[in-house]
Amino acid sequence: MDLATWMVAKQLIWMGLLWTAALVRADAADPVTCGSAIKLLNSRYDVRLSSPDATYGSGSGQRTVTGNPNQLESGAHWLVKGNATSFCPRGRSVSCSQVIRLENLGSGKNLHSHNYRSPLSGGLEVSVYGQDGEGDTGDHWQVMCNSEFWLQGQKVQFRHVDTRTFLEATGHEYSDHHVERHVEIAGSLTAGPRATWKTAEGVFIKPGDQPATYAPQHNVHTEL
Ligand SMILES: *[C@@H]1O[C@H](CO)[C@@H](O)[C@H](O)[C@H]1NC(C)=O
Repeated sequence: MDLATWMVAKQLIWMGLLWTAALVRADAADPVTCGSAIKLLNSRYDVRLSSPDATYGSGSGQRTVTGNPNQLESGAHWLVKGNATSFCPRGRSVSCSQVIRLENLGSGKNLHSHNYRSPLSGGLEVSVYGQDGEGDTGDHWQVMCNSEFWLQGQKVQFRHVDTRTFLEATGHEYSDHHVERHVEIAGSLTAGPRATWKTAEGVFIKPGDQPATYAPQHNVHTEL
């Protein structure tokens, strides 16, 4: 299979999984687990973290991340993974303070930040970066919550490890054609409601539910 065919196959498998989401949806108080594919809803603005197929015209020129006001558009599913040095098996609950990566399912790139200025607010630019789920330490985010585990529906923050900024929906809106009304996402020094998120729709893998033929395991290269 060539790469393009493989990418399409991968998408179809994930779409199938997402379509059956209702079947595996767990209780609201269950922990979020590695291997889950989740959407993240902002607490201040009614937008979901997403990565439209567009690149920044300034800053890094990498693929964009926005807060998408349209719930049904693609690009807003994020695969919960361990960090680059610690594999997190499918079904393992994510602890508060754990350092994770979030892989955007459409692009195979990880949620990323760095010292470029964001285009609208002048915060730190947030992009997606890497290839086939592998990027660099700029993809590391610490889950900020006060319980033992990060729970579904719980309000949490994501602190970027390299820059110590919080993932924030700034409230500034894009007017560009394909991302019109999307809200800018940037790294911010403060952790208020704009920097607070909770899980919304998704495929939530039950805690401890490890063996499966479609387990995305990013430490081996036969993954989805
Ligand atoms: C990666 O995750 C492990 C286990 O949660 C943790 O001990 C380690 O400090 C993390 N690595 C980085 C670079 O944050």
